Amino acid sequence: MKNIVLIGMSGIGKTTIGEYISYKLKKDFTDTDNLISNNMKLSIEDIFLKFGEKHFRNLEREVVKKISSKEDLVISTGGGIILNHKNITDLKKKGIVFLLDGSIDIIVSNIKKSSVSRPLLKSTSNLYEKTTSLYNNRKNLYFSSADYIILVDDKSVEEIGDEIIKIF
Ligand code: S3P
Repeated sequence: MKNIVLIGMSGIGKTTIGEYISYKLKKDFTDTDNLISNNMKLSIEDIFLKFGEKHFRNLEREVVKKISSKEDLVISTGGGIILNHKNITDLKKKGIVFLLDGSIDIIVSNIKKSSVSRPLLKSTSNLYEKTTSLYNNRKNLYFSSADYIILVDDKSVEEIGDEIIKIF
């Protein structure tokens, strides 16, 4: 069976929804950020601080190459996975790519609630502006990378997960 690949902005719910789908379909769940962090034995924030974003993107690329040859997984990706089109080409070889899309309000509110630190979107006073600008810069890449676009606004995790399962 093919992989279910979730892409989208930080805070849109890729991990939570991915875990729900993996539980419902009894498929293994994997998360590119977790793989990178476990390999390096460092948090994503520390990798950014010590080695910079460029190095993080190289690590992300290596992880994508490895998981793209596997099957039957639910894969949650880091928000910047779309920045390298080779990542998407690889992930599509054995996977269907679902973009989780929603309002900036939802993204910002989830980031504020989350315990995960996002180096590119730190909880500062201008989080809304930063998120809007990151989203606008990436919007075209997100949409052109997706096989399916799933709107998350006003839906529960179960509703979103079931919508993806139905398409899959
Ligand atoms: C990033 C998103 C993060 C993580 C890193 C960079 C981005 O993942 O990969 O902080 O560029 O948007 P999440 O989307 O899981 O927050």
